[in-house]
Amino acid sequence: MEMAWTGWGLERSPVRVEVHVRPGDARRALHLEVLAGLCEEGRPKELSPKWLYDERGSQLFDEITRLPEYYPTRREREILLAHAGDIARASGADTLMELGSGSSEKTRLLLNAMRRAGTLRRFVPFDVSETFLRQAAQTVAGEYPGLYVHAVVGDFERHLGRLPTGGRRLVAFLGGTIGNLKPAERARFYAELAEGLEPGEGLLLGTDLLKDRERLFAAYNDSAGVTAEFNRNVLKVLNRELGADFEPETFEHLAPFDEENGWVEMRLISTRAQTVRLPVLERYVNFAEGEVLRTEVSCKFRLEQVEEELARAGLRLVERWTDAAGDFALSLALKR
Ligand code: SAH
Ligand code: AVI
Repeated sequence: MEMAWTGWGLERSPVRVEVHVRPGDARRALHLEVLAGLCEEGRPKELSPKWLYDERGSQLFDEITRLPEYYPTRREREILLAHAGDIARASGADTLMELGSGSSEKTRLLLNAMRRAGTLRRFVPFDVSETFLRQAAQTVAGEYPGLYVHAVVGDFERHLGRLPTGGRRLVAFLGGTIGNLKPAERARFYAELAEGLEPGEGLLLGTDLLKDRERLFAAYNDSAGVTAEFNRNVLKVLNRELGADFEPETFEHLAPFDEENGWVEMRLISTRAQTVRLPVLERYVNFAEGEVLRTEVSCKFRLEQVEEELARAGLRLVERWTDAAGDFALSLALKR
């Protein structure tokens, strides 16, 4: 683990950065995933969505949040605008920890509410994307003088045990990112998170709700092609990290809704038969014409399902809010 204090001046709060995913570790993890997820013949090709978020991918996701078709961010902001004060009161938290924090843009609504309530002491943004996290943490620190910002570079599937302790903590997991975990991964995530919380500490969870497939399709196949660029960007990550020679324009983006699994599935589809070199791994990977590489699932939920899954991990739902259109939900659950 590496720790650094960056920026400690009169005009801004101190930012402490704790790193649990060093670039070397990330590269090794990517190598293993590519060997298992791309190179095993006969197995459907798949990568974890976390590789979508290099610096460019994080910027592209930010662009996605402003697209007219992509409703989740606006809906969640609407809920936070109406209920951040209720959340601050009901959680009683002095520490806000945000998993998959990205730009922490909507999070300011929670920080403001906690500041108004007089409880705000510490902010812990936690993300796997180091450069973007460092920038976001510095920006928040500049906006909240006196706030202790303790950023953690980590993988929320591996490093929940490293979340800072002390104070009364509320973990925010916003944006519907929980939906990017498949059911078994999600159950493991909830169990690990709950295990690290003290009784009375909470989770504020954003979930995208099931809705008609046309709206889901539009949200993940936008007309400006930003989601397509976000998706293809993962091939550029592989080119950079593995010396691969993917030609991103030979892969088509498609994100259909899978009714059976209740998730939107982001796919890259090879438009021709091709062989891609992976020199760093001393491998080749073959794609048939029309072959699919799955890069993300984005699960959509029923309200009762969210409550049940949380309860199974010992997280008791205390309050839940939805936007006026019923598109998105924020659930506040406390550790029993
Ligand atoms: N919470 C923000 C950003 C969502 S985008 C919002 O609501 O708009 C998803 C974020 O999760 C990205 O910043 C990405 O880098 C991060 N992320 C994805 N997989 C992760 C993982 N396994 N561990 C930690 N962060 C992860
Ligand atoms: C971060 N996550 C919740 C987004 C989602 O909607 O599943 C990622 C995304 N993928 C395509 N568009 C947005």
